[in-house]
Amino acid sequence: MTGDRTNRLVSRAREVVPGGAQTGLREQAYYPEDIAFEAAEGATLTTVEGEELTDYHMAFGPIILGHGREEVDAAAKRAIDAGVLYGAATTELEVEVAERLVDLLPSVEMVNFCNSGSEATYHAIRLARAYTGNEKVLKFEGCYHGWHDYVDMSVYPPEEELAGRDDGPEIDPYPESDGMLSAALDNTVVVPFNDPEAFREAMATHGDELAGVILEPVPHSVGCLEPTEAFLDALESETDDRDVPLVFDEVITAFRHSADGMQAELGVSPDLTCVAKAMGNGYPVAAVGGREDLLSQAGGDNKSGVVISGTYSGSPVGLAAAKETLDLVASEDVPAYVTDLGDRYRAGLADLLDDHGVEGRVVGYRSIFGLQFGASERPLTYEDVAELDEERFREFAAGMRERGHFFTPNPYKRHHLSLAHTDDHLAAYLDDADAVLADLSRR
Ligand SMILES: Cc1ncc(COP(=O)(O)O)c(C=O)c1O
Repeated sequence: MTGDRTNRLVSRAREVVPGGAQTGLREQAYYPEDIAFEAAEGATLTTVEGEELTDYHMAFGPIILGHGREEVDAAAKRAIDAGVLYGAATTELEVEVAERLVDLLPSVEMVNFCNSGSEATYHAIRLARAYTGNEKVLKFEGCYHGWHDYVDMSVYPPEEELAGRDDGPEIDPYPESDGMLSAALDNTVVVPFNDPEAFREAMATHGDELAGVILEPVPHSVGCLEPTEAFLDALESETDDRDVPLVFDEVITAFRHSADGMQAELGVSPDLTCVAKAMGNGYPVAAVGGREDLLSQAGGDNKSGVVISGTYSGSPVGLAAAKETLDLVASEDVPAYVTDLGDRYRAGLADLLDDHGVEGRVVGYRSIFGLQFGASERPLTYEDVAELDEERFREFAAGMRERGHFFTPNPYKRHHLSLAHTDDHLAAYLDDADAVLADLSRR
């Protein structure tokens, strides 16, 4: 429901903010009608028109406990009262949160904080480059690791890029932005996800010149690609044998899928791990963690070693939120609750696709799910998600939006569940999805 307040606000925004909204998706261009929010509580978002929508976007994933979780906000407020930022020396909070991350994430021995997932992957790559003395980084098509030049390539290359390309193990890096440094593209090796042979071949060619291998262990940036055993085996053995640091980007997965990260679930021990999002239930806090010998390269005096800097890194407000969030995630077994709910959303949606004879598939893992039209097999690589029926998904999202359910109308993005989502939300979602799919099946 759009209205005068929305129209006035969004037209003012378009004068001063590119695209009229923040974040990479420039939301306003995506939605069937303009939308502006002014409040969030639990699993509900409220628009400036006073309309309440059930939130499945959850800010791209950080909100694992629900919006406005009291204990987290109270901890952040206590930190504000104690002085927002010191920017020097040691604080008790940084020690406590670093110790928690070391306890929770099996491969992590030391931690350096920052404020966003992009910063974490940037720092991880710098550490890996310093450790190996090499520059090239191997990434996988369909994995997103943030907006910086080191990694913002070959995430969602357009269909034309895929047509007619060689079947070789490597893919030409596709820049996701204008204005990127060509040296960053030249120093990136891109390989299909879940293709152990291609990965082994690329390692045979580039192993000696690689600084690191980075991946989302479950690439949710394109919905959900679940890694195969053979792929994980190849990852571990190739990086171990060649002493090439393996970087797990757990920005989405850690503390959402499991309190001890996907690394524990998959039984893989990365050398470096990037965490953010669910770590702080919406507060800007992130970290790069990993092996002591890699991290301690950053322990110098800014005249030697690796520089990991940042005025706001280790901000007490973010760390206070993280400490509380991590405690709640682990003690209330949040991942188990949201996984059970996720299983039931996925099963319900799959039944509805069958009932209505609509070509599509339900993808997802644990608390994350998505509906993809125009394909039915389980996706394993980016190529399996490259030709989705985007228009149909937008129609589905518009129908659901009219009925009070909010998520990004982009088929590559995800629904995220939280501790604040309940069986009632599930029942309402499935009832309304039934009506919207019935409508779509008649078109
Ligand atoms: C897997 C992954 N890595 C890194 C990032 C970058 O994180 P941020 O947006 O906090 O910079 C994202 C953001 O969506 C992500 O999903």
